[in-house]
Amino acid sequence: MNSDRIPHKDSHPGSKSSGRTRQIQGKQKAVVNAHNEWDPLEEIIVGTIEGALVPPWDVIMEATVHKKELWNFYKEYGGEPWPRELLEPAKKNLDEFVHILEGEGVVVRRPTPYDFSKSFSTPDFKIKSSCHPSMPRDVLLVIGDQIIEAPMGWRSRYHENHAYKELCKEYFKKGAKWVSAPRPQLSQKTYKEGFIPPQEGEPMRTVLTEFEPLFDAADVIKCGRDIFVAQSSCCNRFGIRWLERHLGDGYRVHEVEVYDTHPMHIDATFYPLSPGKLLINPERVKNPPEMFKKSGWDILICPEPLMPDSHPMYTCSKWLNMNLLMLDEKRAIVPKGEDTIMRALKDWGIKPIGCNFWNFESIAGGVHCASVDVRRRGELKSYFS
Ligand code: NVA
Repeated sequence: MNSDRIPHKDSHPGSKSSGRTRQIQGKQKAVVNAHNEWDPLEEIIVGTIEGALVPPWDVIMEATVHKKELWNFYKEYGGEPWPRELLEPAKKNLDEFVHILEGEGVVVRRPTPYDFSKSFSTPDFKIKSSCHPSMPRDVLLVIGDQIIEAPMGWRSRYHENHAYKELCKEYFKKGAKWVSAPRPQLSQKTYKEGFIPPQEGEPMRTVLTEFEPLFDAADVIKCGRDIFVAQSSCCNRFGIRWLERHLGDGYRVHEVEVYDTHPMHIDATFYPLSPGKLLINPERVKNPPEMFKKSGWDILICPEPLMPDSHPMYTCSKWLNMNLLMLDEKRAIVPKGEDTIMRALKDWGIKPIGCNFWNFESIAGGVHCASVDVRRRGELKSYFS
């Protein structure tokens, strides 16, 4: 996937302003504009946890939920509302996150309420319910001035994009490009029959076949003209190829080698924080792509998370300590309690802004998962020599 054949050209037509812009205070400004994780943040979508349902059990969950002891919980309670004692503190965390963003002058947009409790079927599968629109990062991939609706690997997330349709329509009307990746069948052929997730130390494997292109938006992380993607149990090679061809000559798509027994989403694994600073998960990334060292980037090792083992985590691992959100090159929103990453960020020249988030993390994801940046002030560039 390393497309060295693509020349480094910041004069590519994609970087010029086009008709897809709007006039703001005398300047041409795209309403959707995000090329990396660190340009100054102007507008963001933050998910909602209200009315969230426990994801119904499905074939993909053995491959993505780290704790085997929770599988029976999902089998029993999938499709039911999360208990109030988990939901309310999670909602408080999200409110605090929104408050911080708005206090920093960022425009915060929210999904449209949608009834996720309905069961549905397609000719290929049936599922008891959807889940919740709490993690827009997984659903919408914003690259430059376009929004790509991801195919989604979980059957229960097949219609999650509906909660963002009103926003996508609005952004489209204001000039953004809006496209949906091929809608997957998610049939029996999509997943390996009899899949058993690897034990720690066994070679990595994922539940997906190459039957159809698949990725979740959070399997992808952007760094200007270079886009990094890791295979996971929601993202296969076919999906990476689709993205590469869709993005075309202005981008280089690189597959990152990761190790994870239950791989799902790249943003607690591999995270270009700002020009010259790549944050990696030491358990999952053993060989960062050579291009970083060659171009003089610092490879920053994420410190061990501090969340106590007793804290309930239903879907994700404690490595959400690195699932932070950059407000700009020098400031990051980080879950409160994660003092080791906070100290490390300070040493690396980034000011951490703490936000209580562990309760949201219990049933969903981190601050990066809970949001998707729609507009950052910056241009498409290459950060590699
Ligand atoms: N699957 C990852 C979460 C990515 C945001 C983890 O559990 O660490």
